[in-house]
Amino acid sequence: MKTISKITLGKEGPLVSKLGLGCMRMSSVWGGPVNDERESIATIQMALDSGINFVNTGDFYGSGHNELLVGKAIKGRRDDAFISVKFGAIFYGGQWLGLDLRPIAIKNFINYSLVRLGIETIDLYQPCRLDNVVPVEDVIGTVADLIKEGKVRHLGVSEINAEQLRKAHSVHPVTALEIGYSLADREVERDLLPTAKELGIGVVAFANTAEGLLTGEMRAPLAADDYHHHFSRFQGENLIKNLEKVEVLKRMAKEKGYTPTQLAIAWINAQGDEIMPLVSMSRRSRLPENMQAMEIVFTPEDLNTLNTHFSPGAIAGGTYLQR
Ligand SMILES: NC(=O)c1ccc[n+]([C@@H]2O[C@H](COP(=O)([O-])OP(=O)(O)OC[C@H]3O[C@@H](n4cnc5c(N)ncnc54)[C@H](OP(=O)(O)O)[C@@H]3O)[C@@H](O)[C@H]2O)c1
Repeated sequence: MKTISKITLGKEGPLVSKLGLGCMRMSSVWGGPVNDERESIATIQMALDSGINFVNTGDFYGSGHNELLVGKAIKGRRDDAFISVKFGAIFYGGQWLGLDLRPIAIKNFINYSLVRLGIETIDLYQPCRLDNVVPVEDVIGTVADLIKEGKVRHLGVSEINAEQLRKAHSVHPVTALEIGYSLADREVERDLLPTAKELGIGVVAFANTAEGLLTGEMRAPLAADDYHHHFSRFQGENLIKNLEKVEVLKRMAKEKGYTPTQLAIAWINAQGDEIMPLVSMSRRSRLPENMQAMEIVFTPEDLNTLNTHFSPGAIAGGTYLQR
């Protein structure tokens, strides 16, 4: 298996792999099942062996379970991993209750994260969202203090808009923006991505498969207990229309000898050197397929077909962020 190339995250930022490993689905976040722990740890270690150093977790992924997994996987090989942690979300019983971005809460969160991860410094630390309760200056200022203290190396932000990004960056330089981006979710191309580029902020793009829509494996109707029912794009007629859209991706994938997921990841990879596809992989078998996706080079005609067919707003139902 080839190793993954490295990019600089943001202007003069740290060196990270062009493909990131998302660990969220190894733990139960929304009350779903917990992945096999040994397989999860083996997946993280296989990713590190393959040159994927960017490992993404959150303190609320499984109430700390995810950080404990990452901690076990990187034990004895801290230097192989670049650890990205989100904080601020409050979950209880698989339900999102809101945010807590108060400076005292952040200082409490980070101490627990460091212990669970078994490390002294988090490489990239980021509020999972911003809100109107705690001023941006206070949230970002607290992370800036943690950087001064040596508990954090770089500031990140997640799921915010262009105006908030500018504001955050004016308080302390932002190294990376984590944002949902895929062929099925291109609204961020209007303001947010150009702003990140202008400010020299790296982009960590998650949900490349649009919650599985672009894997080509989704079928209508969904099972009654499927969590996708929460998203209007996966409901009734919307789902049928959206699955028809995915047929083009499936056809192109078949012609080229790839899978639709590989093309979905490759399309994100093709959006620029400053954009990293961050992909959830909970089993080792995902790695070779998704790493191969990073080698795909589209012809201008292929890109034109995908860009036209999946133009912004082409997917019926709400956007990813409107779930
Ligand atoms: N900032 C935020 O608010 C936020 C929100 C959501 C996620 N994230 C981060 O971003 C990461 C990725 O996001 P995501 O999980 O929403 O999206 P994703 O990467 O599109 O993953 C969705 C699903 O695709 C599956 N998958 C991966 N490779 C596949 C392949 N080759 N063929 C078929 N299916 C494949 C994964 O399954 P398996 O798990 O079974 O391997 C996963 O369940 C998360 O792990 C998390 O670290 C951040």
